[in-house]
Amino acid sequence: MQIKLWPVVALAATVCVVARAGAPDSSFDFPPTATVMNAFDSATAHRRAHSLVSKMTLSEKLQFIHSEYAMSSVPGGGAGYIQGVPRLGIPDLNMVDSSTGSGSTSQPSTTFPSTIGVAASWDRGLSSAFGKRIAIELREQGFGMGLGGGTNLAREPRAGRLFEFLGEDPLLAGQMLAERTDGTQSQKVIATIKHFAGNEQEYNRMGGNSQIDERTLREIYLLPFEIAAKRAQPGSVMCSYNELNGTYACENSHLLSDVLKNDWHFEGQVQSDWGATHSTANAINAGLDEEEDVGSTVYLTPAAVQQAIANGSVSTARLDDMVERKLYVMIRTGVMDNPPKGGGTIDFAGANAFAQAVEEQSMVLLKNDSNQLPLSAASLSRIAVIGAHADAAVLTGGGSGNTRDPVTGAFAGCGGLTFGTSTGCGWWTNPWLKLNTPIVAAIQALAPSAQVSFAGNSDQQSPFSAYTQQQIQQAAALAARSDVAIVFVAQPAGEDFGDLQSLELANPSNQDALVEAVASANPRTIVVVESGNPVLMPWKDSVAAIVEAWYPGEGGGNAIANVLFGKVNPSGKLPVTFPVHDQDTPTWGQNGTYEANPVYAEKLDMGYRWYDAKNIAPMFEFGYGLSYTHFSYSGLSVAHRPDGALDVSFTVRNDGRVAGAEVPQVYLGVPYSGEPPRRLVGWEKVAMNPGETRHVRITVTPRMQSVWDTSRNGWRYVAGGTVYVGASSRDIRLQGS
Ligand code: NOJ
Repeated sequence: MQIKLWPVVALAATVCVVARAGAPDSSFDFPPTATVMNAFDSATAHRRAHSLVSKMTLSEKLQFIHSEYAMSSVPGGGAGYIQGVPRLGIPDLNMVDSSTGSGSTSQPSTTFPSTIGVAASWDRGLSSAFGKRIAIELREQGFGMGLGGGTNLAREPRAGRLFEFLGEDPLLAGQMLAERTDGTQSQKVIATIKHFAGNEQEYNRMGGNSQIDERTLREIYLLPFEIAAKRAQPGSVMCSYNELNGTYACENSHLLSDVLKNDWHFEGQVQSDWGATHSTANAINAGLDEEEDVGSTVYLTPAAVQQAIANGSVSTARLDDMVERKLYVMIRTGVMDNPPKGGGTIDFAGANAFAQAVEEQSMVLLKNDSNQLPLSAASLSRIAVIGAHADAAVLTGGGSGNTRDPVTGAFAGCGGLTFGTSTGCGWWTNPWLKLNTPIVAAIQALAPSAQVSFAGNSDQQSPFSAYTQQQIQQAAALAARSDVAIVFVAQPAGEDFGDLQSLELANPSNQDALVEAVASANPRTIVVVESGNPVLMPWKDSVAAIVEAWYPGEGGGNAIANVLFGKVNPSGKLPVTFPVHDQDTPTWGQNGTYEANPVYAEKLDMGYRWYDAKNIAPMFEFGYGLSYTHFSYSGLSVAHRPDGALDVSFTVRNDGRVAGAEVPQVYLGVPYSGEPPRRLVGWEKVAMNPGETRHVRITVTPRMQSVWDTSRNGWRYVAGGTVYVGASSRDIRLQGS
């Protein structure tokens, strides 16, 4: 088997891997990312920004803290626009959504895989490259700011926007976000991280009051933001729609001032989500620096702020601070002196290849009975490919976290697919992405002498119409006369159309029946899941192999085929728990009803911490993922350093027959009341050839051993505890104290 080694090259040169987990209020705990690259150092940028503010008139300042809404009229098709001050050399600033690619409404963009997939790669370098690659397109399109850094945690596994976040663990999410941020800003594009904070569900997203105690906030929900803010210095933090403990996030002074600006020393700007501002003086005095308006009720208009200054409810010093923060960010990132011009040429072929590479690193092999995968083309004469429009398209996530004008084919009218009707099909709600090389074609290319046949939803119907009994029978009949049956199932989700009712495959309905029927017809049935959320799999025991492909992006056809045929050895690990039943999840509540004002009553026991604390067996646990090779672990040593850090060392060996990459994970059981059994405190992704042994050393900083002590409103270092090293949160291979 020929295995593609990407991005192994960088790791191969390293003999000893040293990973530093994040931690408290020092550069020791959250050291800057390796490549933080700023056009100017902080002190110089502050001086320049300060001097510019002193030269600005009041009206110039007022225009600088309020973005005009006009999704369609923002230059370049962006989401917001701040007018510059030409006489002072301050350029215009255009911003655009960028979760999985540019959200420009008027310019073609590459659709990359969803960011939950990037988290599943557990590859920091990949996350940095992801942020960089998207930023390159943004700059060419004329955007100086990308809004793509979503990192609300997967408390609600049914949440509509899970695909554009980074999973359920704060360290994994924070580290991956820091890298992405850094990659973006290395290209002179300001990065935004969002949505700050407590915005873990779509239900009642504009009006919900998230009730989260301070310890849970600090240890879980704020931590990814803290890590990214300290390590990568994003230019902007976007406050969220919801209230947090009774006060709107965008006027919550505890959140924006006490924590973000004072405790964490954040020097950038706070921008509101679109329409998330609810007051003028309150919001400004709480720490909001810029309003993004949605055209109706607006609070930081020049007139409103001028009036607040006149009546003394906002000080001119605070207005200067708001403006200075934005100028500082523009200067530091290089946008001020080198603003993007737009109209550039994008290397779409290169971006497509990168999108494919990201997907190849993101896919998670969940089941592989008797090594059914990888497939060997030589032994297959007839291959059945079934379902999810695998002959033409892949699913992507809906809402602002999507590209709007994909280079592979427009979404509008279902992207040129022959779905027959465009009902419910479009970039926001049902975004099927047309592929240049669809999955069926990519499979055919790898198995040129096999007959590859497709069965599934007719393109003459709505793309989400239920599978009929007749279609299911046809698919089963095709499977019965084939050597292997590959079934694709899809779970659409997105922003603003609520959370999923259940983790069951529901849209189109009858997908479970389709899988069951195919599996009864052919014991060699492989299921590939396209989803942004965990999925229930009542058919898990009836099929031979399962691959989670997330929302695969425009390189998805080739990437999926490469994994199925072993040109790429899968190395992804789940960033989110896959439960057996909806009822097992911490937020199921009374018959799955949603809370309009969610109380985070499970406190620290969220994600895998919940399953561990309650002793509930998940279907596939956090951190889980198989490979076509096998890794063994040995030789754990835990050394305490005088500075409080732990050096955790061990050896991993690839004792299989093909090259592959493993993600050894370090968990810590912190002996303190209320703590869950284990928390992730570090990991590394190591690529190894067959027979190769790697020594891995992971540094666990004091913060990752600490708890938030509410009695003194600060971090408390907790000595001792048990160190676990595993291939997942439950597949613990080594243990020490
Ligand atoms: C609302 C979304 O919540 C946010 O993530 C996005 O950046 C803005 N709309 C702009 O499109």
